[in-house]
Amino acid sequence: MKALVLSGGKGTRLRPLTHTIAKQLVPVANRPILGYVMRHLSEADIQDTGVVVAPETQDEVKRYLGNGNRWGLNITYITQERPLGLAHAVKTAREFLQDSPFIMYLGDNLLGTGISKAIKEFQEHRADCMIFLKRVADPRAFGVAELDAQGNIISLVEKPKDPPSDLALVGVYLFSRAIHHAIDCIKPSWRGELEITDAIQILIDQGKKVRGEILETWWLDTGKKDDFLAANTTVLDQYTIRSIRGKVDSRSTIEGRVEIEKGARIINSTIRGPVVIGKDTLIDNSFIGPYSSIGHGTVIKDSVVEHVVILENSVVRGIVRLEDSLIGRNARVSKSRRLRGALRLMIGDHSHVEI
Ligand code: TTP
Repeated sequence: MKALVLSGGKGTRLRPLTHTIAKQLVPVANRPILGYVMRHLSEADIQDTGVVVAPETQDEVKRYLGNGNRWGLNITYITQERPLGLAHAVKTAREFLQDSPFIMYLGDNLLGTGISKAIKEFQEHRADCMIFLKRVADPRAFGVAELDAQGNIISLVEKPKDPPSDLALVGVYLFSRAIHHAIDCIKPSWRGELEITDAIQILIDQGKKVRGEILETWWLDTGKKDDFLAANTTVLDQYTIRSIRGKVDSRSTIEGRVEIEKGARIINSTIRGPVVIGKDTLIDNSFIGPYSSIGHGTVIKDSVVEHVVILENSVVRGIVRLEDSLIGRNARVSKSRRLRGALRLMIGDHSHVEI
């Protein structure tokens, strides 16, 4: 079994962050999303892993993943010149995949469970395709599958007005080599992409065995700000353990599951978990409330923050309350000293500010 991790694409929905960072490297609880994906592959004893990258972001993806040996993986990089769809990514990776069965994992998706059980089922059923599915309250924004009583997929529809079920397609798929011929049969969709759902529909029409695996745990697509904050909350809830490796002075209080990395300094502050604080950060005279991730080298001074993700080397200073926010790298959020009550902003393209 090989793996194909899709780490190309445009990431337009997470702009402006994705102007300067690959979407798949945006950290959730201070760890890049791709780190969770690699861990799942490694736990499933996969070794040969192809990573599809875009020309614009391939250098930083390669810098983070390296040759994969940190996870016991053997990584081959495959450059997709343009993001022409998930099926196009598979086509681009044809030489790497050869005729091997493979798991395709979208590099911006996070699952609350591993993939070993699904791989075993895929093999036992000798299926040509297996799709991970999740019950969602409003399936209209997703690809939706209809299953028969035996767990076989009868049909797939993209973003239906009238969904045939509440089972949304999650970004993890298992394929036999039959998918390559199906991809050769499809044409670009109205949005100009080769859609993997069209190729899977061909497998269904050809009478191939296409199965659905319903996820009982959480699944997060980190594509937009609110989804991203939700991902951070869920991961902090699930994985944070109390571990204090930085320095905490005697006037500070650390409550609950708080992870403080080496080189961090906490001065006259309260931190209430679950929270992760990256290395070499400074938290001074501040309150950090639950579900916050503070990136490496960031400074928070004279402020109250809660339910925030603040990436590396940013500064938050003199802010009475900052919540439900996502702040990029090297950003500054501070209170104006000159004009009382006035806001002074320097906002990049595609930014969102709520005041
Ligand atoms: P999407 O989130 O569907 O696409 P995108 O990354 O272009 O994002 P946006 O809609 O915000 O512009 O992609 C899912 C994953 O697959 C993501 O990790 C990027 C990757 N991908 C590729 O590697 N190649 C592609 O051609 C496409 C469309 C996506």
